[in-house]
Amino acid sequence: MRLPLKIVLVGMPGSGKSTFGKNLARTLNFAFVDLDHQIEIGESMQIKEIFEKKGEGRFRELETNYLNKILNQVEGFVLSTGGGTPCFNDNMNIINKLGVSVYLDVSLETILHRLTRDHANQRPMFSGLDAGEIILKLKDLLASREGYYHQAKIKLSGDDPSTELLMAKLINFLE
Ligand code: S3P
Repeated sequence: MRLPLKIVLVGMPGSGKSTFGKNLARTLNFAFVDLDHQIEIGESMQIKEIFEKKGEGRFRELETNYLNKILNQVEGFVLSTGGGTPCFNDNMNIINKLGVSVYLDVSLETILHRLTRDHANQRPMFSGLDAGEIILKLKDLLASREGYYHQAKIKLSGDDPSTELLMAKLINFLE
């Protein structure tokens, strides 16, 4: 059996892509790569600053450039993408062409809880919004993004993501 060598996690902000991705990478003995972090290092700027100074349009261009760069690198990694990554340019097709995509499907309640608990202010999509505004924004975003997320090859409940279950699904997918 061939191991899936480039695993790409997609899903809403707050769906746990980074936390789950790190655990998964450790289990597989793969590298963990965070797309936003790579952009921040490469551009010497925080994501928030890129949105503020250059605008979302420029951020989406950078996101696609870095995504391509990473996906064309040597295999053996788990990549955590940004919540909007699959929904711009041709990104979801590129992800599916070069990697094995996994959608962390999480209830809005869980996302809201996580976003209001930590770092909502660090996420430019939600900065300055109160809990009521965040839930409206989340509903809108999910409605417009779900179609892309569901193009992922494997779906996993992000409310309780299990490395074991994903491994079983991966093996099934590869056979
Ligand atoms: C975004 C999500 C963020 C980051 C950027 C835009 C989005 O990543 O890429 O702020 O459009 O949903 P997370 O999903 O890790 O929060």
